Amino acid sequence: MTPPDHPLPLAARAEAFRPSAIREILKLTARPGIVSFAGGLPAPELFPVDAVARACEQVLSSGGASALQYDVTEGHAPLREWIAAHLAEHDGPIAPVENILVTNGGQQALDLVAKVLLDPGDTVFTENPSYLGALQVFRGYQARIVGLASDHEGLLPDALEHALATASAKPKFLYLIPNFQNPTGVTLPLERRLRIAEIAARHRLIVLEDDPYGRLRFEGASLPAVSALPAGQSWIHLGTTSKILTPGLRIGWVATADSRLHEKLVSAKQAADLHTASFNQRVVNALVRTPGLLENHVRELCATYRRRRDLMLSALEQHLPPGCTWTRPEGGLFLWLRLPGEANALALLSRAMEAKVAYVPGAPFWTDRPDAATLRLNYSNATDTAIRDGVARLGQVIAHEVSPPAPALA
Ligand SMILES: Cc1ncc(COP(=O)(O)O)c(C=O)c1O
Repeated sequence: MTPPDHPLPLAARAEAFRPSAIREILKLTARPGIVSFAGGLPAPELFPVDAVARACEQVLSSGGASALQYDVTEGHAPLREWIAAHLAEHDGPIAPVENILVTNGGQQALDLVAKVLLDPGDTVFTENPSYLGALQVFRGYQARIVGLASDHEGLLPDALEHALATASAKPKFLYLIPNFQNPTGVTLPLERRLRIAEIAARHRLIVLEDDPYGRLRFEGASLPAVSALPAGQSWIHLGTTSKILTPGLRIGWVATADSRLHEKLVSAKQAADLHTASFNQRVVNALVRTPGLLENHVRELCATYRRRRDLMLSALEQHLPPGCTWTRPEGGLFLWLRLPGEANALALLSRAMEAKVAYVPGAPFWTDRPDAATLRLNYSNATDTAIRDGVARLGQVIAHEVSPPAPALA
């Protein structure tokens, strides 16, 4: 088919739709023979395939027709009840069951919240760096993103206070990933959660809390969700089964104590896709309601990911040249590395690929003034051997870059 002579006219809004820089990099890193620490994928060998097969069978044999029928936009009622109970058990009081909306993954929840809250030109506060998929959504709704200073313990409350005092326009919301953040792997400690909740409440600032990784804690005590703290207001909490069951079933949710906001989110979802797949919702409901299944599965994930994290940390210790620093996540899928001085992680990637190891350069995760020396490493989706070999190769590439061998004397 021949393409049209003139490009088809698009909406002004479409100018803001850009492909994810990471997706482009991931295409390159997916070549055979490359040890890839680039993607953000859960370990496929741990997917509960047999349990999913049994759940599908169970859903089809008991009321199969309703699983194949259109459904209400809010989501399958028993699944919403489970989500409300799950949040109450693990995160604190967040939202009543009638204010839970089942979405097509956490990503759609982000999109719906942005669609309902953001007008073009609105300001959004985020951690810096932050999840690229969220930045993409906010940019798509023509928001102005202001990244707030964050360190090895996440967002600095003083930076939030300062930004609120000096911002030219009041932000619509603060986007936060408090547990094992993507991309840095860091977790916001309780004192910071309390301060951020207090500051946000005082300024009547909405907190949009995104928590795909909270259940994947390998060590340390679980912390309450920022949305569930006593100072909390009508905040918004996003969750997903992508990292604790399988991402392919695409079951996520948005929970808020604000009923009016919930209704708007439901209408926005109705316009987008009517409802999340009836069958998938019932399959996930059958899985989470099988006694012990989710707990055992999460335990297995944590044990494996912990071992892989430990292997990666000790391999980094062993192979990386002095001057490199990295985070030590207590859970989740990623750690965040900084190369010494002015090194450029994007420029280094082609040499790393020649050495058959890949990572994601950190620059796209920054909202502005990217620190080009940063990069993200994923440890959940690599075997023990791949982690040892891959980090050793990465160490050689970095060492060569930051302290290249002296030129031979003539
Ligand atoms: C912070 C964060 N939020 C949301 C998502 C979207 O997850 P999903 O749409 O699979 O639920 C991801 C995926 O990696 C993520 O890292």
